[in-house]
Parts: sequence; structure tokens; C-alpha cells
Amino acid sequence: MKRVITYGTFDLLHYGHINILKRAKELGDYLIVGVTSDNYDMIRGKLNVSQTTTERIENVRKTGLADEIIIEEYEGQKVNDIKKYNIDTIVIGSDWLNKLDYLKPFCEVVYLKRTKGVSSTDLRNAKNTILKLGIAGNGRIAQRFIKEAKYVSGVEVEYIFGRTEEHIRNICEKFNLSSYFTDYNEFLDNVDAVYVALPHNLHYDYTKKALLKGKHVLCEKPITLSENQTKELYKIAKEKNLVLLEGVKTAYVPCFERLISMAQSGIIGNIKDIDATFTKLICDKTLREYNANMGGGSLTELGSYPLCIITKLLGTDPVDIQYLYEKDDETSVDIMNKVILTYKNAIATANVGIGIKKEGNCVISGTNGYIIVPAPWWKTEYFEIRFEDQNKTQKFYTKFEGDGLRYELADFVKSIKNNTQNYKWTEEESVFVTHVIENFKLCKNTKEIKSLLWGGGKTS
Ligand code: CTP
Repeated sequence: MKRVITYGTFDLLHYGHINILKRAKELGDYLIVGVTSDNYDMIRGKLNVSQTTTERIENVRKTGLADEIIIEEYEGQKVNDIKKYNIDTIVIGSDWLNKLDYLKPFCEVVYLKRTKGVSSTDLRNAKNTILKLGIAGNGRIAQRFIKEAKYVSGVEVEYIFGRTEEHIRNICEKFNLSSYFTDYNEFLDNVDAVYVALPHNLHYDYTKKALLKGKHVLCEKPITLSENQTKELYKIAKEKNLVLLEGVKTAYVPCFERLISMAQSGIIGNIKDIDATFTKLICDKTLREYNANMGGGSLTELGSYPLCIITKLLGTDPVDIQYLYEKDDETSVDIMNKVILTYKNAIATANVGIGIKKEGNCVISGTNGYIIVPAPWWKTEYFEIRFEDQNKTQKFYTKFEGDGLRYELADFVKSIKNNTQNYKWTEEESVFVTHVIENFKLCKNTKEIKSLLWGGGKTS
């Protein structure tokens, strides 16, 4: 009996899929079809697959062509499957030409001509109109975002808004965008959704204007510098049935999701302590990060990341929040900050700094063991779960693709198209983090380190 195997995502099953399944079946007596898992597609950067693994498997089953259906879950699985299922021939479409040649020592590899004129990507695009996205801002992150957006289907970055015409014209030409605007209203008239990547102090105004004009908004963190303003923005979004998402990049990263669910599974017992650090040494004091009027300082700049993991695992109702910080004498912004959040049954520390360099890892400690996420933990890709008995250590790896911005954009697009709220970073969490950042600016429970060391500085 000749055994054949083929693989695919088989999203929105189409006649191209059926053609290849038929031809694969004709090459042998028994056909196994490997359907990718949602997680595997996410990891390999195939974002925005419309149907779940279960739906895709069901569609393949209904063709009646597969004798057996298996799930493809990881890179390298094909070699194992060939051995495990005693495969004679692997069949794949010509878009994979030569890419599976490494399997030739194990079985016959057959590339079949792809059916012309149909693909899941086209069907997804036809089903969902392409979202026209505009970027408000011309800073470093805006350019990174444009590159990342190419990996997300269903959305096209078309326009850019900025106040310096020369800058935005250059970006527009460099990335082949449709046009640029120095007038925000005109810009808004042309887009379906906006990515707000302006200096922190402008987030509120520009997000509000976009929402009031009926545009969905993905806003860089921190969404605003005041709890009331954040609440107001979410209220407007809700009233207008629009998606408002805060771009706390880490929250949308696949390995981070896995980390959170492992920590919540009880494997390390009750979480008692979290210590998360993110420092980015910035020496040029002319940059925005050192400008107090533009929302500069280490907490506004970097605080959202450690506060994100703390909030996800311990919640939004600590009994006390304290800040130990050091200020830059020239610019008055905090160049390092240690935020200590005391919860009823746990304690957490968010360490940030733009004038100090520290090991950027995160440790989540529980009553049975701890999780360590090495630097840069906010681009989560790897973590270990450790116990008293070192032999029990578990290691987890899920690839972090590119710059990571593609994940938040993919979630933003999904929320808009499916008209759903995002669960990875919620309104409540977003409001809480703004509250923590605002309290520092309002000098609530803050201690300047100088006062501790030399009896100088300020305490409030
Ligand atoms: N396939 C084909 N002809 C098509 C589309 C797909 O022969 N027009 C084959 C692929 O070469 C692969 C299998 O069907 O062997 C599953 O492909 P999959 O990636 O799931 O489908 P695509 O339509 O290519 O999906 P996408 O657009 O998301 O890449």
C-alpha cells in the first residue's frame, strides 16, 4: 500500500485545495492530510488565518479525500511524520518548489503545479475589504510599523500624517505610501483606522479626534497620561462602536500569551512576587524621552511593559503603590524608577530606566517555583519554569517575529473585522496602567532616591 502525505493551512477551503488533494490521493492508496494548528500558523507568521483549526479540519474531512487527518504543530514535524506514518510520498504545491528537498532522504517528494487564480489570501481579501490605515506620527516607531504591517493581511498602510512636511514626504516616498498630510482632519477623511505614534502628550488629543470622526484607533502606549482621559477615550469608542486598542506590544506576542497562561495555570503555585525590569540607556538629552513637556521620563517611556505583566498576573487593585526614583537635574525627568505595587497576597516591582542599565529580565515567583524570562523579556520568546528540584525545569520557546508590532496590528485588524473586544489587553488594564503612571506625575507616594541616600531630594 502506497502512503501519501500532504500539508497545508486549508483556510477557506477552495478548489485549489481540492485539486491538490485529489491529485495527491491519485498518487497512492492512502492519503494523510496535515492541517496546521492555529498556534503553529501564528508562530510561523501566518497571521489572520480566518478559520480555526477545527473548522479547517472539518472542511478537509468533508471533501472525503483524506483517509486520515493530522495536525501540524511545529517546524520539523514533517520528518517525524514520514517515519511515524511510514510515508512513501510527500506531495506539496509548486509554491513550495525545492523547499522540501531536505525530505528526499526519507521519502519521494512530489511538487504539483498550483491551481492558478485562487488562494486563501485572495479569498480573505475579497471577503474582507482591505482596511485603509493611516499613521499619525513620523518618528522611529512609525517607520518600523510600516515594515511590520506588510506581514499582516487585510490592512494596508496608505497615508501618513505629520507636522514636518519634509519628513513625511520622505517616508511616503521611501515606503511607497499613497499620500501624506499635514492637516489631521484631511488625513482622517481618507482613512478607516489610525495608528497614533505621536509623542505621548499628544496621544489623547489625536486619538479623541480620530474616534470622534468614526475611525478605529491603535494608540501607542501609554494611551494617555491621565486616567480620566483614558476612560473618556474608551467611552467614546464604545459609544461609536469603534475599536480602540493600546499598543502595549508585549501583550499581543504569542510567547507572552503562553507565559501568562502557564503562570496562571498554578504550576508555580500562588504568585507571590514579580520583578520585571526594562531599561533603555538614552544619552542624548535633546531627545523626546528627556522632554518633560512631551511626557518624557523612564516611567512614561517604558513603564507600560513591566506594568503589563504585573497587571496581567496580579490585577488592577493593589493596596499600595510606591515610587522610588531618581531625577535628571537638567531636564527633571525620572531617569530611573522603581515602582513597588503591594497587593493583598503578593508584591511586584516594575524597574525602568533611561539613565541606568540593568539586566532586563522578569522573574515571577510562586509558592511552588518560579518562572524566569530572560532579557529582553518584553520581546517574549523563551522562558523557563524552575523548581527546588532542578531536574524538573521546563523550557518554553515560541518564536518572536521581526519587531513584534505585527502581532498588535493583527489583533487590531481582527477586532475590527469581527467586531469583538480584544482580550489580550483590556480597557481595565489600560486604565490601570495610566493610573499608575499618572500617580507618579502627581507625586503620590513618591520618594526621590537622593533623599534616601543623602537626606536631600523630595518625598511626598
Ligand atoms: N494550493 C494549490 N493551489 C492553490 C492554492 C494552494 O495547489 N491555488 C496548495 C498549496 O500549494 C499547498 C496546499 O494547497 O500544497 C495548501 O495550501 P495553503 O497554504 O493552505 O493554501 P493557500 O491558498 O496557498 O493559502 P495562503 O494564500 O494563505 O498562502
